[in-house]
Amino acid sequence: MKIMITGINGAIGNVVANLMSKDHEVHGIDVIKSDRPNTTYIDLADSVDDVSKAFEGMDAVLHLAADPRHDPWIGWKELMRPNMIATANVYSAAHKTGVRRFIFGGSMRVVAGYESDEPYASIINGNYDGIDKNKIELIKGIGQDTRPNNEYATSKIFGENLGRYFHEFEDMEVLCVRIGSLKHGSDRPGHDSRSWVAFMSLRDAASYFKSCIEKKDVGYDILYAASDNDWKIYDTPYAYKYLNFQPADNAENYR
Ligand SMILES: NC(=O)c1ccc[n+]([C@@H]2O[C@H](COP(=O)([O-])OP(=O)(O)OC[C@H]3O[C@@H](n4cnc5c(N)ncnc54)[C@H](O)[C@@H]3O)[C@@H](O)[C@H]2O)c1
Repeated sequence: MKIMITGINGAIGNVVANLMSKDHEVHGIDVIKSDRPNTTYIDLADSVDDVSKAFEGMDAVLHLAADPRHDPWIGWKELMRPNMIATANVYSAAHKTGVRRFIFGGSMRVVAGYESDEPYASIINGNYDGIDKNKIELIKGIGQDTRPNNEYATSKIFGENLGRYFHEFEDMEVLCVRIGSLKHGSDRPGHDSRSWVAFMSLRDAASYFKSCIEKKDVGYDILYAASDNDWKIYDTPYAYKYLNFQPADNAENYR
């Protein structure tokens, strides 16, 4: 298959591209230069026509380009172009050029509001007393309200909603992936207790997104992406089954 990865020179795009290149023809777009072949250097927010040119002939788009910062002080000034305009352009270009499969790189932050409710709040804060990890009601994708905790999270809901629209009215196959937490550089859980839930290793991320591209019979779905961590509040097992994906890592191995 011919796969386009936006944000190919980012932390996740890079590892996905390395793995996907073994079985597929991988193309990419980024603003950061590298010597990766088949890569176009444009700002996705500049022109939908330029994005469309790069998308000609692609079977699938994996949209990872964004400003991934979710700190409270990051607002629309920083996010409007990379997370909103670029995302709108990427969906429009995919539609215009007849791309069949669209994978959207979203975030668990779109439902972060649940992390203030029990038992999720205790788990996220690392207080496990009296909680049976096998009896937690996991937070779902479709059917569960979004509860964004900042502008970054709402920008990811925008991407999910565009996916729903292009699926329901334009017949695109769309998977919105609510990604947990990947540590740039260290590839291990962070020092915060939330990482025991949200950690995803780079190799798990690479094979997870490969499964999203290769899965047969996709309509529209929302999937959670993290390694097979003992402590779960998000319904990653649904995604593992749906994608027939076997995670290799577990945050507990680093505790
Ligand atoms: N890393 C995480 O823990 C995490 C968690 C949840 C969601 N995500 C999402 O996953 C995606 C990838 O994250 P990452 O950690 O690899 O981020 P990253 O910053 O390492 O990579 C993003 C890449 O996109 C490129 N890019 C940004 N805006 C662009 C534009 N307008 N035009 C062209 N290229 C552009 C950047 O140059 C960069 O190479 C993002 O959408 C992020 O929001 C990441």
